Formats: sequence, C-alpha cells, structure tokens
Amino acid sequence: MHALTHLFSVIFVLGTLSFPAVSCPSEVLSRIGDAMNEGLQMPAVEPSGFVPTLNRMGYMTSTLDPYSKAFIEFCAVAPGPVLDVGAAYGVATIEALKNSKRVFANDIDSRHLEILRDRVPAELRDRLELFPGAFPEGLSFERESLGAILVARVMHFFDGATIDRSAETLHRWLAPGGKAFIVAETPYLKNWQTFIPEYEKRRAQGELWPGFVSDVMAFAPDRGKSLPPQIHFLDPDVLSRVFIAAGFKIEKVGTMPRPDFPADMQLDGRESVGIIAVKAE
Ligand SMILES: C[S@@+](CC[C@H](N)C(=O)[O-])C[C@H]1O[C@@H](n2cnc3c(N)ncnc32)[C@H](O)[C@@H]1O
Repeated sequence: MHALTHLFSVIFVLGTLSFPAVSCPSEVLSRIGDAMNEGLQMPAVEPSGFVPTLNRMGYMTSTLDPYSKAFIEFCAVAPGPVLDVGAAYGVATIEALKNSKRVFANDIDSRHLEILRDRVPAELRDRLELFPGAFPEGLSFERESLGAILVARVMHFFDGATIDRSAETLHRWLAPGGKAFIVAETPYLKNWQTFIPEYEKRRAQGELWPGFVSDVMAFAPDRGKSLPPQIHFLDPDVLSRVFIAAGFKIEKVGTMPRPDFPADMQLDGRESVGIIAVKAE
C-alpha cells in the first residue's frame, strides 16, 4: 500500500476527520466503513421533508432550493469537477451526478457520506468521490481545479472569520469561469422571531455580522436541540460584501421563500438567502 494512503487510513480510523483530502479519500473511506454493513441508515424523514443530521447540524432538505438547482444545471457546463460542501445524505450530490462526470461530496461527518454513497444509483457511483473533513481548513484541493462548488445551509454554522476564509478558499479552488453557489438561513424564520428585533437593530448600527447568535437555546429551545450552540444568520448584504472582498463577481443574490421548510419555520418568504458568485475568466 502506498505509504501516504496508509497514513490517511490510520488517521481516519482514529476518527480524525480533518485530514487534507488530497490522496484517494474515496478509497480510504471505502476501507473504513460501509453504511449498510455498519447498520447506518438515513434517519426518518419528517413530514415536511426535513431529515435530521446525525451530528446536531440541523436538517437536510429533501428538495432543492432555486440556488441549489442552479448549481445542478451549471454542473453540465462547469469548467471542471464539482464539489458539494456539507452534502449530508446527498440531496444535491445525487442530482449533480446526473449532470457531471466527476462529483466530490464533502461532509464533516463521515457517516453522512457513507449513507450518501449507499443512496447513489449503482450506475452513477463511479462518478462520485467522498471527501470527509471540516471545510474550509480540513479540505484541500489544487488551486483552480474545480468547476463549481455548492455550500448549501452550512455557512450559518460559521463565525465571521471562517465565512471570510471560506469565500477566499472557494475562490482559490475554482477554475476561471467557475461558480460558487451558497445557501444559508436568514433570521426571518418563524421559530426565530424573537431574535429579529436584535438582528435589525444591529444592522441599523452597521454591525459587520448582525446575525450571529451566541446562545441558540435562549431563542429557539425547540429546534435548537438539533443545532450547535451557536448559529449565524446571513443576508444578501453580508454575503455580497464577503464574496466581493474574496475577488468574486456576483451573478445573483437575494432572499428566497422556503415552501419546503416545516410550518413552524416558514415566516414571510425571506427564510433563506442565496448567492451565485463567479470567478472571472
Ligand atoms: C443543515 S445540513 C445541510 C445539508 C444539505 N446541504 C442541505 O442543503 O440540506 C448541514 C450539513 O453540513 C455539514 N457540515 C457542517 N459543518 C461543516 C463543515 N465545516 N464542513 C463540512 N461539512 C459541514 C453537517 O454535517 C451537515 O451534514
């Protein structure tokens, strides 16, 4: 066995997820686990379509929002392999595999990726490579090696500095003409209404990161149980600032309704924010 590959296997078996994803990560993953053999299964889907993550990182949706759909469409013409960051059980990855011959799926929880792999139709599995690790620092791709990157409903788990570094990393990895597609939650969610006045006050005061919540359970004790202790709601102004500073041109940005969210979260049609950011040719 190649010495470097062996080293990655050992690191992975020890449970470390943040190794640099540069050497046959899909091979490593296939050796350390198979979801069906380990009895791993995707959790039950809520009536709304939400599927709980295994690591208290919220829920995967069962359908795609307009920005994720734009990513899937762009996969067919992207100038290189495509990457789904925080793929969970593969709601976007599985569609991307139909449009791209090379799809990289990432998640911080390798169990999600094992379940994802089992959900992929056999005839598409050759196109898929799994990259467990914590984006941005726990992943490594060659400069300008990717054609498109989706980061759907992940960045609202990051603090401001990590969001800045994420945008810079995406810009470095994308080939000229490549695009980053980002989706995140805004605070305009029914179960977060008590935070909205604080968020709007901070915005009016010109705070750089008005949506940062340091104590999730204080505002959303119900769904907060399925979330990390901190969350960071984003909006079009914040995402535009971050992606322009990282060197991108903005193709599209805005809030969007989430008819696919459960009724206890839907508020007024501004539940999520999306941005399509282009790296200049
Ligand atoms: C709310 S789910 C979103 C899943 C899916 N992308 C969607 O749009 O429904 C967030 C996913 O991102 C993963 N995640 C959280 N932080 C991450 C990180 N730093 N790097 C990679 N994946 C991460 C979680 O494990 C989880 O599977």
